[in-house]
Amino acid sequence: MLIKKTSTSDISENEVTPENIYKDRRKIIKSLGFLGAGALLSGQSQQAHAISWFKDKDEEKSALKALKYQADEPFTEALTPEAKITSHNNFYEFGTRKTDPKQYEGMLTVNPWQLNVDGLCANPFKLNYEDLFSKYPLQERIYRMRCVEAWSMVIPWVGIPLADVIKQAQPNGQAKFVAFETLYRPEEMPGQKSRFAGGGIQYPYVEGLRIDEAMNPLTLLAVGLYGKELPTQNGAPIRLVVPWKYGFKSIKSITRIKLVNQKPPTTWNLSAPQEYGFYANVNPKVDHPRWSQAQERRLGSGGLFSQNYIPTLPFNGYGEQVAHMYKDMDLAKFY
Ligand code: MTE
Repeated sequence: MLIKKTSTSDISENEVTPENIYKDRRKIIKSLGFLGAGALLSGQSQQAHAISWFKDKDEEKSALKALKYQADEPFTEALTPEAKITSHNNFYEFGTRKTDPKQYEGMLTVNPWQLNVDGLCANPFKLNYEDLFSKYPLQERIYRMRCVEAWSMVIPWVGIPLADVIKQAQPNGQAKFVAFETLYRPEEMPGQKSRFAGGGIQYPYVEGLRIDEAMNPLTLLAVGLYGKELPTQNGAPIRLVVPWKYGFKSIKSITRIKLVNQKPPTTWNLSAPQEYGFYANVNPKVDHPRWSQAQERRLGSGGLFSQNYIPTLPFNGYGEQVAHMYKDMDLAKFY
């Protein structure tokens, strides 16, 4: 089910992964016949439930164990362990503490699902749950994720370039922005039911991108991580990943993608406009009003007491691929 795609847009796999795992994984991918296979996944939806790099559970377990940080090694951009990615979450629909969303793992009904793609386009369409795994070639992308709260992870996503979905809709000349909306289902999402449990933000959670940002080859609709379907807490069954922007742009559990001609409202901007802008590009030179953005704490690659503070890079290190989209903009003003 997994296609290994390397491009200049990714952190290269051997940059982030301890060498033994990197080699092991290439061996595994090769044995599955995926190496260099290109786009071929249509019609293989039955495999969607077991997207995996690993031969079996034991192999997966030992590979992931080996990913654990060795204290005597110099700092490298290791993949964040799966256990960390799936237990340290922001998903206010399931509570405001980092540990809250995992309590609801598997409890959101994701099948059936309906994702509507519509708005200013010639070909509006809907995708159901199976479509998410079978209609488009899936790609693996290893991306840094930098939260506005100054922590970060390195995550191996599996997903669909958003551009593939937008092209299918055939946007017309008036479409200048793309608006996204999360599922609204208070009976399964306690944070939507009570203002207190949901952190006081408005629901459904909404986000937006300019159309050129949405079409950028880095922008991904993720349906999996670590070779498996997304768990509830990470935004099942489909979420956005925009790796050069703060994590709050990466809206989870999406039910609508709409082409529009005005800048769409976005949840955190509505909630605190002086703190969270529409663009939200990672920028070490523009501090949050209440804390510095010059550094970040890389989670999961150290021991319990390890700090792992590293400098934050402009555009989260993806400037080569995205800076051109903002060349005439004052990024302190359009934060
Ligand atoms: N999407 C929805 N619907 N609800 C949320 O609370 N939190 C955002 C983003 N997407 C959020 C959301 C924030 S603040 C971050 S940092 C990322 O999801 C966290 O993604 P992760 O939990 O997979 O690390």
